[in-house]
Amino acid sequence: MIASESTNPRDCTAWSQLADLAASLRERELRDLFAAEPDRGPAWTLEAAGLRVDFSKQRLTHEVMESLFRLAAERGVLERRDAMFAGEHINVTEDRSVLHTALRLPSGSELTVDGVDVAAEVHGVLTRMANFATRVRSGQWQGATGLRIRNVINIGIGGSDLGPAMAYIALQYYSDRSMTFRFVSNVDPTDISEAIRDLEPAETLFIVASKTFGTQETLTNAKAAREWIVSALGEDAVERHFVAVSTNSERVAAFGIDTANMFGFWDWVGGRYSMDSAIGLSTMVAIGPDHFADLLAGFHAMDEHFKHADPSVNIPLRMGLTAVWNRDFLDIPTNAVLPYAQFLSRFPAYLQQLTMESNGKSVRLDGARVDYNTGAIYWGEPGTNGQHSFYQLLHQGTEIVSCDFVLFAQALEPVFDMQDMLAANALAQAAVLAFGRTAEEVRAEGVPEDVIPHKVMPGNRPSTFILAARLDPHALGALVALYEHSVFVQGAIWGIDSFDQWGVELGKAMANSILPDLQDADRPLDRDSSTDALIRAYQALHATARD
Ligand code: F6P
Repeated sequence: MIASESTNPRDCTAWSQLADLAASLRERELRDLFAAEPDRGPAWTLEAAGLRVDFSKQRLTHEVMESLFRLAAERGVLERRDAMFAGEHINVTEDRSVLHTALRLPSGSELTVDGVDVAAEVHGVLTRMANFATRVRSGQWQGATGLRIRNVINIGIGGSDLGPAMAYIALQYYSDRSMTFRFVSNVDPTDISEAIRDLEPAETLFIVASKTFGTQETLTNAKAAREWIVSALGEDAVERHFVAVSTNSERVAAFGIDTANMFGFWDWVGGRYSMDSAIGLSTMVAIGPDHFADLLAGFHAMDEHFKHADPSVNIPLRMGLTAVWNRDFLDIPTNAVLPYAQFLSRFPAYLQQLTMESNGKSVRLDGARVDYNTGAIYWGEPGTNGQHSFYQLLHQGTEIVSCDFVLFAQALEPVFDMQDMLAANALAQAAVLAFGRTAEEVRAEGVPEDVIPHKVMPGNRPSTFILAARLDPHALGALVALYEHSVFVQGAIWGIDSFDQWGVELGKAMANSILPDLQDADRPLDRDSSTDALIRAYQALHATARD
């Protein structure tokens, strides 16, 4: 364990400096910072892996940034980064390496961890995935009746769903448009029912994706899918219509999927860090192995930048430190993700798991309770849609929300000058958030005195602006890796384990204990009075609905 991981970041000299700087910055608004530094825009913009990231509209000064770098040094962030890349067991509570960066090592790379040539294993699986994806796409892999596969349904949840679903939507421009891709995650029966209702079993392939192959929702949905296939095509059809992605071959076999049709990964890939592992099989079938390789190359380009770039120009480092600054020193509790790209509609949801399951922790690696803020709440919607729903609060609400804008310069499917309109909106929103509009400016427009307060835009609301040429596989990989490493930096400063998720376990166990009680009205109940009453009310309504 790196020494700083068992200490409190608040004890760092830089932490106190930052607290003082935050207090002195209260009087200095973004307007003032821009006035004092005429080239602030370009001066605070960094480029790497095809992404241009503008931090100028964050409430940062050079002094603050210096102190944040000092904090990173005091907390051993770069040592911990190197330990992660080298495969040390930095996931302390599960005693595991954290090696999602190995998933995108170029072929021919070498990385031996715990005596295993990890890079060779990764490329072994990638080759099998590519063969399989090519066979499905070309029609060589046929269903049980000899028909080609036209529909692919990924069954998984959390990291085994959000990454593949997000990536499919993000990259659908590059996908085989003659095929249908769907994603089933929820144990709500409507999810699987709707996914299969208009499909032919003989043309449908299920990818059952689960790291553990023990997740209730996934196994139940897979069971329903299996029954649908078997009732239409017979038991023997299962091997042509089901493949699995998992780290657990015993459970895959026990479920009845031939392990010859299983694509493996490793315990050192966290679920929320797995979209570029075999969990991305549906993505590869959709966009083809070459585009998937571009996606991996985008991830790798950002990994290399994070690993080698000087701290002063290191984008994920700066992004993570900025998040800590916003959370702990400016007291900003939440971060909106605002992609100005409809294809990134699931990106905020994807980032919710990545950020909140990683850094939603209140105990340090050494078990001590934190006495500072950790992970912010992430949420968002694509622009311009969000502008017409929640941006009012972003601009004039009492809660300050830090915003991440994501914009691409080129339209994938140009129509009129719509891409320019999209860009103009993104730029306008970021500028209005930062600079607002004063009472004097409103008055100068001839607005009646009693309406002026309502039209004042407070401004001084921070944002980061990410710009890239176009939404292609490489850009998506770089973007996701940027956030992965930003999350890492935040966790390293806070001294928490960003790679476990114990907080989700108790709810799962309790659901398993409630289920039999729900299904048998004669069983005595002895939980809290609210849960017990809700169980009885559910049973009564459930019975009525059945009649
Ligand atoms: O419940 C949380 C979680 O463990 C996530 O971390 C994970 O991505 C998801 O469940 C799905 O798990 P699995 O891939 O093992 O089915």
